[in-house]
Amino acid sequence: MNPGLSSSTAAPAGAPSVSWRPVMDAEELWIGDMESVQVGDFTIVLTNVDGEIHAFEDRCPHLGTPLSEGDLDGCTLICSTHLWEFHAKTGAGINPGNSRLVTFDTRIDDGQIYVAIPENRGRQLGSEGKGGQTVATHD
Ligand code: FES
Repeated sequence: MNPGLSSSTAAPAGAPSVSWRPVMDAEELWIGDMESVQVGDFTIVLTNVDGEIHAFEDRCPHLGTPLSEGDLDGCTLICSTHLWEFHAKTGAGINPGNSRLVTFDTRIDDGQIYVAIPENRGRQLGSEGKGGQTVATHD
């Protein structure tokens, strides 16, 4: 077990319906590491920053480069293509500040990292050049 791991679970009332999907053993994602995983139609990059696991669409909102091909430098996720920077806990754009990554909630249960995948497929993720997109679902 990787002691001190936590997750980014946030389940506000009225949140869209999600399916929690196991993606990898928590002990395989060390502090300072990132890993790309495929979950159904989603390619997701997991980050471990200070023992907190976070999940983002593995696609730069600029021109679509997989973020997992970039660098994780402390709390900063850096795209390998044009060096856009994002906060590796929140997905907020650092440079440029008006960009944003698509985020997924995470949790750790019985040594496994789980990611919350929207159950409704009516989504638009990461369109090019428009900054991050949010997951659109139906009620
Ligand atoms: S594709 Fe990521 S910064 Fe351009």
